[in-house]
Amino acid sequence: MLLEPTVNALIEPGFGSKSKRSHATQEPSSRLSGVYVDGTFGRGGHSRYLLSRLAPDARLVVFDKDPEAIATARALQAEDARVSVVHGGFASMREQLIQLGLQSVDGVMLDLGMSSPQIDDASRGFSFMREGPLDMRMDTSRGLTAAQWLAEVSVEELKEVIVKYGEERFAFPIAKAVVDRRESSPLCTTLDLAELIASVVRTREKGQHPATRTFQALRIYINQELEELAHALAAVLSILAPKGRLAVISFHSLEDRMVKQCIAAAARPAEAQARMPIFEKDMPAPILHSLGRVLPDAQEIAGNVRARSAVLRVAERTDAPLPPDEGASFVNAIRLGPKPMRAGRGRK
Ligand SMILES: C[S@@+](CC[C@H](N)C(=O)[O-])C[C@H]1O[C@@H](n2cnc3c(N)ncnc32)[C@H](O)[C@@H]1O
Repeated sequence: MLLEPTVNALIEPGFGSKSKRSHATQEPSSRLSGVYVDGTFGRGGHSRYLLSRLAPDARLVVFDKDPEAIATARALQAEDARVSVVHGGFASMREQLIQLGLQSVDGVMLDLGMSSPQIDDASRGFSFMREGPLDMRMDTSRGLTAAQWLAEVSVEELKEVIVKYGEERFAFPIAKAVVDRRESSPLCTTLDLAELIASVVRTREKGQHPATRTFQALRIYINQELEELAHALAAVLSILAPKGRLAVISFHSLEDRMVKQCIAAAARPAEAQARMPIFEKDMPAPILHSLGRVLPDAQEIAGNVRARSAVLRVAERTDAPLPPDEGASFVNAIRLGPKPMRAGRGRK
């Protein structure tokens, strides 16, 4: 998804900007021999296309939590010596790169969320349309499954998760129904849960299954997706070389808002820290500038309905030195979870 613009965002010197800025001075060849990270390898569509455009001396480090994605990545590594593979969360990007002897990189891409094989494989438990175990872990080698967590959680905690990560209006009745139901029999499968939710949620948004928001919330919670993203953004700020690029594809507003807030804070620190007791001369310099956002075109949406909600945001590292906190305050400016009601005007 958004394949061409994502890869262009990393390697095209003049990507996205109408202004001349510094791009004109950046030689394409230096980008093509750079070090890149694909934090979400999946089945390697973005990685393969990036590799096809990079020079023989470039490097690409790929991450994925999913053992099946990692098996595909290892097969690619066997064919292409430019590739290094890490099985694990992209939140650990900085430490993993240091272990590989890499202090900085020229570009990072993140294509967030689930891959099509994960959604389509009923045994992974991500889909409320297919009968399967309530698993929902991206990394099936560790951590609690959704079924294990639902067997223990309190009504209050479950309600909070469904509100925070699903923005679901009927979070309380759903949470109560889950806890009441497990008194008689455990919730083990995706359809058990989807049917229970459908029996509790009376209204549904047009074209949306009543369980959509709850499934999203559980998946985000089980995989700690927003916390991972916040850590990854902090890591990216500290490892991007000057003129290095960040390209992030998000599929829902919770993620997109975090990416947007982080880029805005790092690009306009004076605004982000206006309320802090800091003299203007001591304000950190911008360490990113935004190169804008790209949405899928009508052709891509026609070919893949999941593209409808995708948004790509791109930013470039400036030459300014990192502030002493390495940009942590820019990431701390991010608020995890839904927007306050009064501010809701949709995505910009
Ligand atoms: C949308 S798919 C990526 C598809 C990929 N760009 C391609 O072309 O095939 C997202 C992938 O990221 C992985 N993933 C999600 N969150 C992750 C995280 N925090 N760390 C590492 N991998 C993650 C998922 O397991 C999934 O394989």
